[in-house]
Amino acid sequence: MLHGKRILLIIGGGIAAFKSLELIRLIRKSGGSVTPVLTRAAQEFVTPLSASALAAEKVYTSLFDLTDEAEMGHIELSRSADLVVVAPATADLMAKMAGGHADDLASTLLLATDTPVLVAPAMNVRMWLNPANQRNVATLEADGVHRIGPDEGDMACGEYGPGRMSEPADILGAIEARLADGPLTGQHVVVTSGPTHEPIDPVRYIANRSSGAQGTALALALSGLGARVTFVTGPASVPPPPGVSVVRVETANEMLAAVRSALPADAAVFAAAVADWHVEAAKGKIKKDGSGKPPTLKLSENPDILATVSQMKKGRPKLVVGFAAETDDVVANATAKRKRKGCDWIVANDVSPETGIMGGHENAVTVIDAEGAEEWPRASKEQVARRLAQRIADALA
Ligand code: CTP
Repeated sequence: MLHGKRILLIIGGGIAAFKSLELIRLIRKSGGSVTPVLTRAAQEFVTPLSASALAAEKVYTSLFDLTDEAEMGHIELSRSADLVVVAPATADLMAKMAGGHADDLASTLLLATDTPVLVAPAMNVRMWLNPANQRNVATLEADGVHRIGPDEGDMACGEYGPGRMSEPADILGAIEARLADGPLTGQHVVVTSGPTHEPIDPVRYIANRSSGAQGTALALALSGLGARVTFVTGPASVPPPPGVSVVRVETANEMLAAVRSALPADAAVFAAAVADWHVEAAKGKIKKDGSGKPPTLKLSENPDILATVSQMKKGRPKLVVGFAAETDDVVANATAKRKRKGCDWIVANDVSPETGIMGGHENAVTVIDAEGAEEWPRASKEQVARRLAQRIADALA
């Protein structure tokens, strides 16, 4: 619920703008208040009057409204909210955000704000996939802008693919997750997730079967308890959760660098299935040489991210949690692993193929800490995530 929360809703000029009227209604139903800002183009799709009527608040449209500057300057307007939501976030609006433009009220507010920002992109599929737009999306991600969507589906222009704005109910969910007041409000948690890809040559890589489902569920559960989550993910097959800062990496070395730059944090949870080795990658594609002999891959050990952070002399998170993927003697191996790496807890799971856990929807874990081992019943990865997030909240309290 959003009781007492203030949302500054910037409505961009796209056909999805009509869905933003529904979003206003949902936010208010959830107990929040909405101050709508319409770009000039947005007013071609929805009227300020309908936004104002649904929000029961004044609507802002122009930077040069002098009366308003006297009442509430744009700087104050940009900071008076608990969250700035841009829906629909058009390609143009995101390009302006990424470039730091301030040539109308919406872009000026976005440049001036020190409040977290959540964007819900909506545009034609080709525009979404265009490298220029993808560069802007990556820049915004790196700047800590939160994003939900776009969804994939039929588009108003008749094409199919990613580009549809997320449904208002899902955007509301992302807003609630961002603003949730919970036991972890004010705490920063870093979560690693997914596999890593270690290149062999420019076209091949070594990977593993991790889907990223457990790390994603965990990031969502932590953010649901109010945590600010930095989600460092390898190339996972499930999409990252809404409402968290996403940092995408490929290799173990990149993951370590991303984790270092995300610190300081109150807790760090290492759910990624990091490759233990990387290959001395060839510059060009490795070719068969006709001799019938396979090429030799030279492997070097990757940095152990969990051990590195656990053993930090300065700036170690108060709570460091690792996972242990084991196929034999799960508890004994994981207990030894906890000691060796120096983390506080190890969440051990049996990843033998017959368990169906790796890449599956369920997990059966044993949580090992200094006190001993606690076996949890098999449950969905979401249920395991919620229980673990609550345990983390209790430990940080
Ligand atoms: N981990 C890590 N960096 C690595 C390897 C593993 O941060 N280079 C983390 C994982 O995210 C996980 C924990 O360490 O939280 C244990 O991973 P696991 O693969 O079970 O252990 P390994 O250290 O790889 O040990 P082994 O393969 O020998 O069992």
